[in-house]
Amino acid sequence: MYNLKSNTIRRKVVVVGAGAVGATYAYALSQSGLADEIVIIDRNEDLAHGQVLDLVHGQPFFPTVAIRGGSKADYADAQLIVITAGSAQKPGETRLHLLRKNAVIVSSIAEDVAVSGSQGVMLIVSNPVDVMTYVAHKRSGWEKSRVIGSGTVLDSARFRYLLADHCGVDVHNVHAYILGEHGDSEFAAWSMTNVAGMMIDDYCPVCHKCSDWKVERKDIEQQVRESANHIINAKGSTHFAVGLALVKITASVLRKENSVMTVSVMMDGEFGLSDVCLSVPSIVNDRGAVKVITSKLPPQELEALRRSAGILKEAIDSLSQ
Ligand SMILES: NC(=O)c1ccc[n+]([C@@H]2O[C@H](COP(=O)([O-])OP(=O)(O)OC[C@H]3O[C@@H](n4cnc5c(N)ncnc54)[C@H](O)[C@@H]3O)[C@@H](O)[C@H]2O)c1
Repeated sequence: MYNLKSNTIRRKVVVVGAGAVGATYAYALSQSGLADEIVIIDRNEDLAHGQVLDLVHGQPFFPTVAIRGGSKADYADAQLIVITAGSAQKPGETRLHLLRKNAVIVSSIAEDVAVSGSQGVMLIVSNPVDVMTYVAHKRSGWEKSRVIGSGTVLDSARFRYLLADHCGVDVHNVHAYILGEHGDSEFAAWSMTNVAGMMIDDYCPVCHKCSDWKVERKDIEQQVRESANHIINAKGSTHFAVGLALVKITASVLRKENSVMTVSVMMDGEFGLSDVCLSVPSIVNDRGAVKVITSKLPPQELEALRRSAGILKEAIDSLSQ
């Protein structure tokens, strides 16, 4: 929608799913000043209505933004449609267990978005997010760049936090990525890990904080992998950090930032992989994940990426069995 007053395109975001993740994202997005309009949809209409009321009562305290409940008619002119609808991971349940339940939900929403004629970007959050991104891509028929998953953007943030804490430096001085599945087969791309402008292996001798870096490195990677389960066991769901990760992706879409993020994308020959969605560093702007950065991974990381792809392909295949 064109805004006559400001001569700009109205930045509209639709959030589908008003549960813990959808509501936390909407709350963080409201405060960010990135969107002109936030529309919240849930199959539980009372819940969506309650979340909207709770948010609009905060309007005097954050930048001007219209927040309201909506319907699938809202997809057509949204720049970004964020799908958090579905069941959440229960204690002890793996993300892959959610597969069948959430595939039905995401598939039907993706179809509605496609039918609306939207020219925006679809951002999938529902787990298992890589398989759901694949399902949404196939069902919508959209070009691959415009259907992205939140992938390992959250896991990469957890990794950066743990490295920063370990090395005793500000998290903004750490650049690091978790690649592959958002789940058990994800792995740390140590070859891309950079602290204070130095590759991690070069930084270590300067740092002197580890007793045995090889052991501590494995421990950090394991902690990242187990983070979600720890939080879910302790409080039932993870929603604060993922809400902020979604705001970061939103910023790159709405402001055409070209940020490099590990969103989940459909592979099309990159790293020798195709017909599977997983996380690799990609450039994200208003047309979605427009370019996968195909760096030269060392053999063990390439092997880990291919292993992750194999696991995800099995999950995708299991949907048609
Ligand atoms: N990708 C990530 O990094 C990440 C992180 C945390 C959670 N998640 C996933 O996000 C999803 C949501 O988690 P949550 O904690 O908010 O769950 P939740 O149960 O609190 O909320 C899910 C909401 O989806 C709604 N819903 C279900 N089917 C719908 C439909 N067809 N249309 C509209 N709304 C529908 C439900 O009514 C519910 O309110 C889960 O799949 C969870 O595993 C992903």
